[in-house]
Amino acid sequence: MKKDFPIFKDSALVYLDSAATAQKPQSVIDAISHFYAAEYGTVHRAVYSLAAHSTEKYNAVREQVRRFLNAEHREEIVFTKSTTEALNLIAATFPFQPGDEILISEMEHHSNIVPWQLACARTGAQLKVIPISDTGEILLDAYKKLLSPRTKLVSVAHISNVLGTLNPIAEMAALAHAHGAKIVVDGAQSVAHLPVDVQKLDVDFFAFSGHKAYGPTGIGVLYGKKTLLEMLPPYQGGGDMVETVTFEKTTYQKPPLKFEAGTPQIAEVIGLGAAIDYLNHVGLSTIGAHEHKLLQEATQKLLEIPGLRILGTAPNKSAIISFVIEGIHPLDLGTLLDVRGIAVRTGHHCAQPLLRRFGLTAATRVSFGIYNTSEDIGALIRALKEILNILK
Ligand SMILES: Cc1ncc(COP(=O)(O)O)c(C=O)c1O
Repeated sequence: MKKDFPIFKDSALVYLDSAATAQKPQSVIDAISHFYAAEYGTVHRAVYSLAAHSTEKYNAVREQVRRFLNAEHREEIVFTKSTTEALNLIAATFPFQPGDEILISEMEHHSNIVPWQLACARTGAQLKVIPISDTGEILLDAYKKLLSPRTKLVSVAHISNVLGTLNPIAEMAALAHAHGAKIVVDGAQSVAHLPVDVQKLDVDFFAFSGHKAYGPTGIGVLYGKKTLLEMLPPYQGGGDMVETVTFEKTTYQKPPLKFEAGTPQIAEVIGLGAAIDYLNHVGLSTIGAHEHKLLQEATQKLLEIPGLRILGTAPNKSAIISFVIEGIHPLDLGTLLDVRGIAVRTGHHCAQPLLRRFGLTAATRVSFGIYNTSEDIGALIRALKEILNILK
């Protein structure tokens, strides 16, 4: 699949940071540039045919995302800037009362921690944290104990961006619902790697970012069950989200437009549509199988390196491997790998509490996408051995 991605053309780049952001296939780049060059117009606002055509294309992507997530209704798909904005939208609008509890897990990305802290400060709700095991799995018994009539909302990652753990969302959703709570799933790390069916998982909200799924930056999606989106108040005010405006009183559109104030990210939505086309064309099952093979091969080879410890050894894992090597700082390692044309992520991975749980402040992470190959793993291992020879 490397041939589909122009960044790899005539380049020896070994890109192992798809969990941060994925490279773009030519088809996505072409869809965006064709839209700007030949079809660009605003949406929802104008009668001329250019705008009507843009609106049609924009709305068609909403339907495409509905099918991609198997949502029941097109109105359940809200376009946002990113996963971060989608999570903030819920946190800023959900009607928490003082004493309500919000549960998150110990493995969350900062964008699934901080919005809830802000919500707690705003409403007097309390944040509770579900602990994880040494293998990097949510402790379901502890989760069950934390659930109570006070629990209003549970928000967890589908896949951890550090540990790679695939969380048992359907089971967690059923447990949350049995206690009258709603469940939000941070799908930033899942949609580009496995098929997602929000109805089968029975989740109330699901968030993801286009840029981690081979689409452009600046576009994300919030799925929300229709009745819940109808219940939430608007997040931001502005054009497009209103029905009528007077100085005395404004009435709002129904979801999803109620949550899409201002001129939306039109070209980014078109790009997201092309990215979903690309994912469907290759097939998420094919992608998952390919990445799983890479995960197994890389795990085995990395473990042969003396002093290397992998964070996250759950049996159900996505193709993300975070590790530390005794006596070597991840930032030094990342810099020396970069000199050899290998891009990995180093640092706290926007999950400081999780790293602290493992007694660390930083780690190195390799993560795989559709374009990675066994040769990439070979290059990584050769470079690591070379660097260790120099540093040790
Ligand atoms: C698990 C997880 N959640 C949320 C995010 C935030 O995504 P974005 O920065 O696209 O909003 C990321 C990005 O790294 C992530 O990995």
